[in-house]
Amino acid sequence: MLSIEEYRSAFIAHLESRIKTRKPKNLYAPMTYILGLGGKRLRPVLTLLAADIFGDHYKEAMDAALAIEVFHNFSLVHDDIMDNAPLRRGKTTVHEKWDVNTGILSGDAMLIYAYRLFEGYKGATFRELVRLFSETALQVCEGQQYDIDFETRDDVTKPEYLRMIEYKTAVLIAAALKMGGIIGGAGEREQNNSYEFGRNLGIAFQLQDDYLDVFGDPETFGKQVGGDIIANKKTFLYLNVLEMGSTQQKKELLDMYSIQPEDPSAKIETIKEIFLESGSEKLTKKAILTYSNNAFAILDTLDISKEKKEVLRNFGEGLMGRKV
Ligand code: IPE
Ligand code: IPE
Ligand code: MG
Ligand code: MG
Ligand code: MG
Repeated sequence: MLSIEEYRSAFIAHLESRIKTRKPKNLYAPMTYILGLGGKRLRPVLTLLAADIFGDHYKEAMDAALAIEVFHNFSLVHDDIMDNAPLRRGKTTVHEKWDVNTGILSGDAMLIYAYRLFEGYKGATFRELVRLFSETALQVCEGQQYDIDFETRDDVTKPEYLRMIEYKTAVLIAAALKMGGIIGGAGEREQNNSYEFGRNLGIAFQLQDDYLDVFGDPETFGKQVGGDIIANKKTFLYLNVLEMGSTQQKKELLDMYSIQPEDPSAKIETIKEIFLESGSEKLTKKAILTYSNNAFAILDTLDISKEKKEVLRNFGEGLMGRKV
């Protein structure tokens, strides 16, 4: 097994050898731009890790890992259009640097390119990878649609929210692990348990993403802090207040979510205070821990060596300590 850093650099070398700007430039330049901005590369690293854990086959998993990362980046290009986001990884978003139409079409091309990356796999492996990929990609779209629908609803429940983040975020992390398992030759039980590990980790990851969107450091976060509040996203932080806040806090939050001020800074500050004072911030941290611990409990049931479990656990813990 390699170290996490070694998997990441091997992956980046593969990405750079495969992804090139071709003509027409305005179709492909946004793709090299967004993929070149970096990011944590957590999904492809998980695919490579799983392929090595179950079968010593990480090099074979390179194209599947790249497919996942290209798909993830496609989803970010379209997500930033949908969320009207100005910043991604500390840089201008694709639709702001070019325009919305360019973002739509280069995003589409990225999705198609992601599929092409499976062409090198054969037989049952090919079929299983593509089947999982298609199912996952459709779920991500479903999650994204719920996310947008919830912006204009005021009766969103926690179970609805949890299903939304499971779909928009957790299933891709889960699939990244399972694909590594498929390529590494893991049995069905191990494939499914690694998927479940990833699903729980992914829910914790999105809860933390919501948390950082409000409480992250603008200097290092790389995205617009307060973006979810500006877009009236029904996040875990928001739903907690409606569940356990005082009558005054609930009223203030609903009032704030009903206005769209030109300068959102006062709205963001007020809502941040409500999240802190109502105990919602604390509850969110607790939920992040609960889902991470669920993930680690599932990890324990995997039929792999203690050392390999330790690698996955450290990776998960590192993710939970993230600031970006
Ligand atoms: C951002 O994903 C979108 C979410 C699912 C929260 P990441 O936080 O993995 O983004 P990068 O790839 O590291 O920039
Ligand atoms: C994004 O959720 C999930 C997908 C891109 C599918 P967010 O909208 O919270 O992601 P960020 O915060 O923009 O990265
Ligand atoms: Mg977004
Ligand atoms: Mg979004
Ligand atoms: Mg977010």
